[in-house]
Amino acid sequence: MLKCDDLSAAYGDIVALRGITISVAPGEAVALIGANGAGKTTLLRAISGLMPLRKGSVQFNGGAIDRLSPEKRVRTGIAHVPEGRRIFPGLTVRENLEVGAAARRASRTEINADFEHVFALFPRLKERQKQLGWSLSGGEQQMLAIGRALMSRPRLLLLDEPSLGLAPRLAEEVYASIANINEGGLTVVLVEQNTVLALQVAQRAYVLENGQIILSDRADRLRDHPRVRDAYLGK
Ligand SMILES: Nc1ncnc2c1ncn2[C@@H]1O[C@H](COP(=O)(O)OP(=O)(O)O)[C@@H](O)[C@H]1O
Ligand SMILES: [Mg+2]
Repeated sequence: MLKCDDLSAAYGDIVALRGITISVAPGEAVALIGANGAGKTTLLRAISGLMPLRKGSVQFNGGAIDRLSPEKRVRTGIAHVPEGRRIFPGLTVRENLEVGAAARRASRTEINADFEHVFALFPRLKERQKQLGWSLSGGEQQMLAIGRALMSRPRLLLLDEPSLGLAPRLAEEVYASIANINEGGLTVVLVEQNTVLALQVAQRAYVLENGQIILSDRADRLRDHPRVRDAYLGK
């Protein structure tokens, strides 16, 4: 479904990605793990079109998408939940979700069905739909950011550090929802510093260090890999 081939990207002189090759099959949940500054966010931004490439190509469903704007990539089915959630604080929960639906031309009936789908996944958003975005807790804001992405009816969901800043119980709750979404058939690529959580939900993972992939394997094998255990699992 997704194929990144030999990607390189840089911020001026700072090379953030070098020779990144990854592929993701339909229905998979794949994690990108690695320390702060490894290049995880930059890789997600390269996939969603927010970061220009110096080299390499990105293919989605068999076609090259390198030349497409971020907006067009959303329309081809890629939804990106950015680091820090970026919900609209002055809009209500319902209005934030509505913004996600605006990315595609959908009928009212379709949008209402999507609201029901998101509210079934996140009942707390339904209860709080008339509240302003800023009044939500961190965990609820993350749920709202994911819900907003789902309103664009994506085929691929990109999640950047969904557990960042959340208390452990809430992080687990958000991850249970992500597992649920993936079990429903949606393909997920998630970036995490919380390696334990990421390897619980993802079936496969790539480990990034200094803008390069140094390891990739099934999640269960990576959990037992000495390098991953020492560097990322604190064992
Ligand atoms: N806007 C930016 N300008 C300059 N350098 C940046 C910018 N964003 C990230 N970088 C650098 O690019 C590298 C990769 O960053 P990033 O992709 O954010 O890593 P991660 O998400 O894994 O923490 C780091 O060295 C970081 O300092
Ligand atoms: Mg990051």
